Amino acid sequence: MHIRNFVIIAHIDHGKSTLADRLLEATGTIEKRKMQAQVLDAMDLERERGITIKLQPVRMRYKKNSEEHILNLIDTPGHIDFTYEVSRALAAVEGAVLLVDATQGVQAQTVANVHLAEKEGLAIIPVINKIDLKEARVEETEKEIRALLPSVTGEILRVSGKTGEGVSELLLAIVERIPAPAMHPEKPFRALIFDSKFDPFKGVVAFIRVVDGIVKQYERISLAVTGARGEVLETGYFLPELSSRPTISSWEIGYIATGLKEPWIVRVVDTILGNAVGEHSELALPGYIEPQPMIFASAYPEDAEDFDALRDALSKLRLSDPSLSFEIESSESLGRGFRIGFLGMLHIEIIKERLKREYGLDLIFSTPSVPYRVKMNDGKIATIHAPSEIPDEHLREWMEEPWVKIEIITPKRFLGNIMKILERISGVFGATEYLGEDRILFHYEAPLRSIVVDFYDYLKSASEGYASMSYDMIGFKKGDLVRLDILVAGSRVNALSLILEKRSALEEGKKILEKLKTLIPRQLFMVALQASIAGKIIARENIAASAKNVPHHMYVGDRPRKMQLGKKQKE
Ligand code: GTP
Repeated sequence: MHIRNFVIIAHIDHGKSTLADRLLEATGTIEKRKMQAQVLDAMDLERERGITIKLQPVRMRYKKNSEEHILNLIDTPGHIDFTYEVSRALAAVEGAVLLVDATQGVQAQTVANVHLAEKEGLAIIPVINKIDLKEARVEETEKEIRALLPSVTGEILRVSGKTGEGVSELLLAIVERIPAPAMHPEKPFRALIFDSKFDPFKGVVAFIRVVDGIVKQYERISLAVTGARGEVLETGYFLPELSSRPTISSWEIGYIATGLKEPWIVRVVDTILGNAVGEHSELALPGYIEPQPMIFASAYPEDAEDFDALRDALSKLRLSDPSLSFEIESSESLGRGFRIGFLGMLHIEIIKERLKREYGLDLIFSTPSVPYRVKMNDGKIATIHAPSEIPDEHLREWMEEPWVKIEIITPKRFLGNIMKILERISGVFGATEYLGEDRILFHYEAPLRSIVVDFYDYLKSASEGYASMSYDMIGFKKGDLVRLDILVAGSRVNALSLILEKRSALEEGKKILEKLKTLIPRQLFMVALQASIAGKIIARENIAASAKNVPHHMYVGDRPRKMQLGKKQKE
């Protein structure tokens, strides 16, 4: 009864990793002199950017009145693109510490995370963080939390991840308010895989939450869904580095090194079974729904020889990032590459950076696009990922695009500004709620296309950085959409084609041409820039020719030479 499994969840930058540092110190898991800030953010990229990308488990020992407890913590990312990491961590625990920054109050990702934790039936401990700061609005934040979580009636803890104030009370609350896990050590071994990574010596290392039974080193195991068989090369806990133990049993969070060298065999949604019983999908634990990537971009190696290396790198990255999907694609000008599905723009940026840093790959990425579903005149339905490949209006019956449900939280005073930017993306208003005295929670639905690229920046500037948003897919909806093509000097440029609503096509087309006019350098000849829909030109700009008449300044009498130069220039 002395084990507690829990996560820390919060909006981005509300202080999860910093509070985790204090918990690690207070429990003596990491000595103070070895401590570095945000120690659970293990990747260089995480430390440089100050953001958590990967979930990270750690096991702590804690004494309450001389009774020893094991606390298994999973630190989670806060950015919306990595919500899938949070949902996997939630499936492996019984409780959640919900952290809210007292200077920011409840934010969109706070609300989204509460919904996820409630869906999993977790015990939630709300905690107000950063109380050391003089801008802290502790009382208002408490009201906002109570409005969001009416079921919380007891005290709301107040801590500072910076100074450590309130951390010992938090440890006590974790033991008292989060239930101990149900234990079934006598049953056959079953464990949920919530994450994994690849180790060149140990093969695939699966991060697991054991549900039933016990597993020992050298025992045979198998995967319930894929049926792959392996052996427990090593098992143990996270301290937070891997620390081997002879066994791992029911109720624990730990890892199994499987020795499997094919990264794609071990899927994060799968269940590990004991005794190598093979495929038994009826024994699979209720996992999590595989995420649906909704933004696609193509990646081509700059050096065609790197194609296999790119495939290998993507397979390995997929181990720790199961949301990553990819398929082979080829392009006339770029050769062979992959079309990759992502969960958001930050996700694209992080994967690009990891492919470069961890695998030394220089890649060319296409402009990201959402997928479109198109019904052709012949009745066939196709999903198309690149706007340039969408057939013209007269060749299709209808076209659908993905829509999202958006939640925006803002202080009241920015209401007007935010309404204005929402009107621009032509969605549908839903309910509006008050959270505490000053916060408004908007519900809105809109096409994903209209928010992926720069909507978040607009929202931030409309609210002086105070508003936050989260979104969730709701499915495909039909739209009055057209493909706008851009022609430069008479040739269509595929990468510049885009899908937009018919009514805004003309205005958008003009804007793009004006921008291109400032970007494309002048040539010796005039360059026409045209915007077209289904072959019909709707807007045009010209880039004037650069200074002509090179021969003009020449000696007046040298006519034949002048004509010759003029001819050359004309060519
Ligand atoms: P993500 O995982 O990327 O969402 O961030 P996080 O929630 O883990 O936040 P992190 O711990 O990285 O903290 C964000 C910033 O807030 C850092 O600059 C911390 O130093 C600072 N911070 C965290 N807790 C406190 C606190 O209690 N007081 C003060 N003054 N600053 C804090």
